[in-house]
Amino acid sequence: MTELDVNGVVVEVDARPGEALLPVLRGRLGLRGAKEACGRGECGACTVLLDGVPVMSCVLLVEEAAHGKVTTVEGLADGQRELRRAFAEEGGFQCGFCTPGQIVRASAVLDVAAELGDEELRREMSGNICRCTGYTQIIAAIRRAAAGRETTGGETTGGETA
Ligand code: FES
Ligand code: FES
Repeated sequence: MTELDVNGVVVEVDARPGEALLPVLRGRLGLRGAKEACGRGECGACTVLLDGVPVMSCVLLVEEAAHGKVTTVEGLADGQRELRRAFAEEGGFQCGFCTPGQIVRASAVLDVAAELGDEELRREMSGNICRCTGYTQIIAAIRRAAAGRETTGGETTGGETA
């Protein structure tokens, strides 16, 4: 058994040696926000945070994840609601398949997004592919969420899921 800290809860999972985190999250822990698309660390649909840093859970091994705190989109509290609203308002998603991963990655840069130029922000988000929207709307959504956070003083908004 391997002990994982997921969304602030310590759980024991029966993972095979060399097994990736994503199927454990989705199949055994019922956390289906992270999606599987490429399965090779190339698209970002499976993005979660490990100690606050975005990682691709389809290629992150369970034993690697056990060294830190995992946060999935379901466990995001601070910034998630404002990001969801901003994505909707700016047209930052269509099919929505990539959106949980986009929101997880965006949550990691939200605090500094206002200080980043468009190119820098695009670079920060470049690990997450969207086949529907084009990235202009996604960047606009992050900027909107960051601006909203500044006006509300960055308050925590609760733990809704995307
Ligand atoms: S499914 Fe993990 S990066 Fe594409
Ligand atoms: S909204 Fe469909 S892939 Fe991004």
